[in-house]
Amino acid sequence: VSIVIPPRVTAISPPQIDVINARAAEWRARGADVISLGQALPGFAPPSSVFAAAQAALLRPDTHIYSADAGVIELRQALCRRLAEDFTVTADPETEVIITAGANQAFMLALMTVLEPGDEVLLPAPYFMNHEMAVRAIGAVPIEVPLDKAAGFSLRWIDLEARLTPRTRAVVICSPSNPTGAVFGATALQEIARELLARNIVILSDETYMHFVYGDCQHFSLASVPNWRESVILLGSFSKSFGMTGWRVGYLIASSRTIHEALKIQDAMLICAPVIAQEAVLAAVEQAWHYPQQYLEAFNTRRCYLRDRLDTIPTLHWQPTQGGFFAFVEVAGCADAQQLSLAILDRVHVVTIPGNLFGVNGQGFLRLSYGSVDLSRLEMACDRLLRYFSEWYQVNPK
Ligand SMILES: Cc1ncc(COP(=O)(O)O)c(C=O)c1O
Repeated sequence: VSIVIPPRVTAISPPQIDVINARAAEWRARGADVISLGQALPGFAPPSSVFAAAQAALLRPDTHIYSADAGVIELRQALCRRLAEDFTVTADPETEVIITAGANQAFMLALMTVLEPGDEVLLPAPYFMNHEMAVRAIGAVPIEVPLDKAAGFSLRWIDLEARLTPRTRAVVICSPSNPTGAVFGATALQEIARELLARNIVILSDETYMHFVYGDCQHFSLASVPNWRESVILLGSFSKSFGMTGWRVGYLIASSRTIHEALKIQDAMLICAPVIAQEAVLAAVEQAWHYPQQYLEAFNTRRCYLRDRLDTIPTLHWQPTQGGFFAFVEVAGCADAQQLSLAILDRVHVVTIPGNLFGVNGQGFLRLSYGSVDLSRLEMACDRLLRYFSEWYQVNPK
């Protein structure tokens, strides 16, 4: 007798990034100098206030026990102050915020709170693969909404409208986008919010990359639209902004009615986010909220460098986007991005992420993350990609 796992779970594809990382680790163990343009890491360390606060927190007895399910109140207060100042998001720290173990847990919490099995969830594609996995995991149905590459993968109401059915209950919006880096403008988002509110469809707004926008581009939070409480659930993260992916702290913001219900699930799922980590993040939010800005210039330099170099590789095409730290690059003639990604890793030791992992219309693309390589490593990676595409790809296209 063995444990029966339902199709709801077995149908989820295992995380392919782990397969690629394992292969990269094998190459490293054999002495290869592998350059990773793979995982979505910002590459910088947390601000120093985080270390001091975490050390001080270790010596306090109240950090060794659970916090409130909704999280440390001082962190909720500081976060709400910052979001109000920078993004005109007004949320009540007492009743409209839950501190979570990262944006991913916030997303799962939101799904479990508002959806029933069989509900349809629109996923503008290319999408963040964990969103699709989570939707499947709770028995809801992910519906891909292919975004137009010619329009820079921007999100338009007409694209969503075309996929609505009577079973549509929620739409996932991720701006700035992982994997494309597209930033959706305020006008489009306001229209979408209006239309979805009129249809009683929930918006799950993942704003993990809110601090990573370039040039005169501005992040627009969906939790700043009028009546946001009636349809928007904001999912946020401290992982990328403060270089704290391993600390596992994020947040969920919604109406007090939704939060009241979500707290039951949070209590059953997690009780509360790790308290030492919450205290450390509190210091970052209070003392170093604008910390990521000091890295933006370097990120933008890498972004422009990547654009210039990719322009010289005829097989590759990237229409630069304004946010995140990703280039979603089209590869001419590529029918199997997964094979291609592995071939690039094997031949020239550069880690890339196959675009098809982000949905059907990502097939033939590679996602390159420039978050955790400095300019000299990025230059080496580009040299190697140039070599791969001039020496291998034409000879043996995959
Ligand atoms: C769009 C998006 N949402 C959520 C996450 C996960 O963030 P967290 O570490 O806060 O769970 C990521 C990480 O790559 C992401 O790209």
